Amino acid sequence: MHRLEYRGYDSAGVALLNGNLSVYKKKGKVADLENFLTDKNTHATVGMGHTRWATHGEPNDVNAHPHYSTSERIAIIHNGIIENYAALKTHLQKQGHVFHSDTDTEVFVNLIEDIQTNNHCSLEEAVRLALHEVIGAYAIVVLSKDAPDQLIAARKGSPLVIGIGEGEFFVASDATPIIEYTNEVVYVNDYELAVIKDGQLAIRSREDVVQTPYIQRLELELDSIEKGGYEHFMLKEIFEQPRSILDSMRGRLELGGSHLNMAGFRAYEQKFVNAQRIIIVACGTSWHAGLVAEYLIEDLARIPVEVEYASEFRYRNPVISERDIVIAISQSGETADTLAALELAKSKGATIFGICNVVGSSIARATDAGAYTHAGPEIGVASTKAFTAQVTVLTLLAMCIGQRRGTITDVKLRELVTELHNIPTKVEKALKLDAEIQQIAETFKDVPNFLYLGRGYNFPVALEGALKLKEISYIHAEGYPAAEMKHGPIALIDENMPVVVIATKDSSYEKVVSNIQEVKARKGRIIAVVTEGDTTIPAMAEFVIEVPPTSEVLVPLVSVIPLQLLSYHIAVLRGCNVDQPRNLAKSVTVE
Ligand code: G6P
Repeated sequence: MHRLEYRGYDSAGVALLNGNLSVYKKKGKVADLENFLTDKNTHATVGMGHTRWATHGEPNDVNAHPHYSTSERIAIIHNGIIENYAALKTHLQKQGHVFHSDTDTEVFVNLIEDIQTNNHCSLEEAVRLALHEVIGAYAIVVLSKDAPDQLIAARKGSPLVIGIGEGEFFVASDATPIIEYTNEVVYVNDYELAVIKDGQLAIRSREDVVQTPYIQRLELELDSIEKGGYEHFMLKEIFEQPRSILDSMRGRLELGGSHLNMAGFRAYEQKFVNAQRIIIVACGTSWHAGLVAEYLIEDLARIPVEVEYASEFRYRNPVISERDIVIAISQSGETADTLAALELAKSKGATIFGICNVVGSSIARATDAGAYTHAGPEIGVASTKAFTAQVTVLTLLAMCIGQRRGTITDVKLRELVTELHNIPTKVEKALKLDAEIQQIAETFKDVPNFLYLGRGYNFPVALEGALKLKEISYIHAEGYPAAEMKHGPIALIDENMPVVVIATKDSSYEKVVSNIQEVKARKGRIIAVVTEGDTTIPAMAEFVIEVPPTSEVLVPLVSVIPLQLLSYHIAVLRGCNVDQPRNLAKSVTVE
């Protein structure tokens, strides 16, 4: 449960079958549940646990999962949202079912009980029939006092994986809690029901057709999901970036050459060449990586790009044609809105390309071709190494398309390949700024607002810097295109306003210098991220952070590093829980 806590951590609970059905749950972290359980009998060989990220009903003991049915014989844990829960609840109340919580999940378990009572059927049959009645998304696990050796799991829209051990089975939302016990897993598909009974796993469709489980062998290392001596996962992941960037390009390009090797691109080569437009759908940090890709692809491959919030795109009746390529970017590969946006585009005939970090995730499986980012598991809720890995892969993709379309010269391509190889070393160098950035964090840890400005390739970096800060330190922060500042945010600038300006030496450098002057004229406190050796900006800024020089198109990979460190240190100094910030979750499988 600790390993899955990053997905939600406002309450936690367990249900155990030990002759009885015992349910224990508590508001708060898994650690709070552990304290609560110290004097309880937790001996059992069948059980389930849940950590919650609230959708329906505030985080408290009653709303925590597991939930049980009115007779207290059946228990359920559930990820997702049941959209028709209100109608089902009214119906079930009329049948005499009693509800204790405000959740949609409690409706699900009572529905199962209702069906089982009325149809005199097995638990498995009742769950299967219930799946036909609920509308929405779910991954569920159900157990019953009357079926003491059985666990039933089902999914639609929310991830579910089953680990096959020796004489034991594990069911989880992802593989991270399983890997310690077995590396053989089965990913459950939408509309499938898994029954673990008498030491056997059986999978059936919602229509009751037997399915053959496809057993996969995972290559996840236990080390990669542990803190490895760092105080926080986020810090470990920030420092892993030289390696994760390298892993994301490994095997895809060779030093000094111009031969690019991306299997996913090859599968769609002709479609990319002929694409009339590329639409990128994503959420959060992945959306920021998408914005970087807009600059990259338009610059290097000359195809128009639109970057869309997946949640807006899916409900906007967008114009999509068969000559469009839709790229879905997602670290987890499970974000509900991104997945739905991709399905919509697919249904309209667009070509779908996925960029995911989690191998075997729903988005990876829903796309016909794509590229994994190989950043390794990212546990800290605020995304860091996944962002730079996404930007790396998107850079390679833009280079592949540009090469194939002839919009990038061989000389330029070779230059970029060489410079990409230098990026891990430059990131390493930027990470050495850690102590210096901690000092800056000391100065600004108590301010209520921050402004982040950047232009060109550094505009998405400004957005990402602001997002990092607000996510983990709860300081209000806004990212803006530096020139656009004068149309609004400039009104906020006074002697108390810290303004982070990403002002590396690139084609908009002079313009950014003017923007810095505008901030300075209003007495704003300037923290500038500049290229090593800059002599102009240090004379204007209160603090200067020097990053190594690189090619303009690769600059986000380096300039984002100090911003990640700044937000980390500010959050730590403010006593915030950086790995599990309030109200957020790592993987948002509800829309
Ligand atoms: C959540 C996370 C963010 C992440 C976003 C998109 O909000 O807290 O860190 O950027 O989801 O997630 P994805 O897995 O699709 O990249």
